[in-house]
Amino acid sequence: MRFPAEPFRIKVVEPLRRVSREEREQLIQQAGLNIFAVPADSIYVDLLTDSGTSAMSDHQWAGMMMGDESYAGSKNFFHFQAAVREIFGYQYIIPTHQGRVAENLLFSTVLKPGDVVPNNIHFDTTRANIQHQGAEAADLVIDEGLDPTVQHPFKGNLDPNKLDALLREKGRERVPLVMLTVTNNSGGGQPVSLANVRAVREVCTRHRVPLFFDACRFAENSYFVQQRESGCANKSIAEIAHEMFSHGDGCTMSAKKDGLVNIGGFLALNDADWAQRITNLLILIEGFPTYGGLAGRDLEAIARGLHEVLNEDYLAFRIGQVAQLGALLDQAGVPIVKPVGGHAVYIDAKRFLPNVPQSQFPGQALVVALYREFGIRAVEVGSLMFAQPDEQTGEMKYPQLELVRLAIPRRVYTTEHMRYVAESVIELHQQRDRLKGLRITYEAPVLRHFTARLEEAAV
Ligand code: F0G
Repeated sequence: MRFPAEPFRIKVVEPLRRVSREEREQLIQQAGLNIFAVPADSIYVDLLTDSGTSAMSDHQWAGMMMGDESYAGSKNFFHFQAAVREIFGYQYIIPTHQGRVAENLLFSTVLKPGDVVPNNIHFDTTRANIQHQGAEAADLVIDEGLDPTVQHPFKGNLDPNKLDALLREKGRERVPLVMLTVTNNSGGGQPVSLANVRAVREVCTRHRVPLFFDACRFAENSYFVQQRESGCANKSIAEIAHEMFSHGDGCTMSAKKDGLVNIGGFLALNDADWAQRITNLLILIEGFPTYGGLAGRDLEAIARGLHEVLNEDYLAFRIGQVAQLGALLDQAGVPIVKPVGGHAVYIDAKRFLPNVPQSQFPGQALVVALYREFGIRAVEVGSLMFAQPDEQTGEMKYPQLELVRLAIPRRVYTTEHMRYVAESVIELHQQRDRLKGLRITYEAPVLRHFTARLEEAAV
């Protein structure tokens, strides 16, 4: 296996600043060992997220110049609406400035305290938005999806039996909708198969509950289906996406991922009543229904990005680049989630630092070391992000997966950047005995990982 050659050439460059180790040490200390608080221009390779970090194409930039900034009825809205309807197939298209607003609008409209929303695994903003309504976010991924060592082509699948059991127990009155996250970000960027979508749909239909997709990485998911699912090799990405969405009643979308743009999102759905109520709320908090918190030019960039992301040469490069980074780490004995997901390589921090207990945030310790030693920014997806006290006992509940995500921005970094990352992680793995656990000195009540401050734990 090799790194795939880039199916584009570079027309604009953004210089990167190299910062000394001393300066990095100082910056990470000032940041309270929280990588979110380190200024981005002192980072060499930034793998914090693949969200909003894509490089747009010349076609998208050309579209930006065609922005119609009319308050109502901008032509770019109609391009955007047509693109979303064509690819996703839903009737009502509600633009938002990013994905979490689509979640917030949806959940604040349809949830009440005590409700439950199942998903394969909720992303952190989805979970927080559900909990903010006094509802519960239930993760029902298949068991294989929780074991980083098990090979399975569709580890993002939701277990239809677990879903059926939950719906029987709670009743449809308490479950206003079921969600499916494609790809399953919090479980390692793992895809969901079409067969699983059909099975989940069948359970939802039986219990008369609508199914919504969290569609952020729908094109990457569709590419995995084409490559891995029997009977799908000859289908186009658009056909696969279309079939997948045809089994749902709507979706939330962060266009900052597979929309190939730096800002934007939407909610798309078929239910006229929900759409009306959500639109009323949209006007209150985002903007008029034909811009929803975005400029006309942003809507145009999304309309074009959604078509570009379906290109198979692009997807083969994209998925191939991530897979090869994973392969280099794997060959060197670095424990990673396998198979490698679509947008990121996830290091298994539990196995990387077996001597650091989850109460001392092994994932975050690894993140800090990657920045300090190599100027690379990764993100923890583990106990700092997800551990919560049990509501009844107050005892800390730790997530099963303790991961560090190396998320790869789309069309941004070259093969040499990827090699640098691989060599750095491998070197850190060789020196792993030197790494210490951490403890929290400040935390916010929700989404604490964004603003927490930490220090090295005395062993
Ligand atoms: N759902 C999933 C699966 C996501 O990965 C994200 C964002 C969102 C919803 C929210 O979208 O950021 O536009 O409000 N994920 C980013 C990440 C932040 O780094 O994985 P948003």
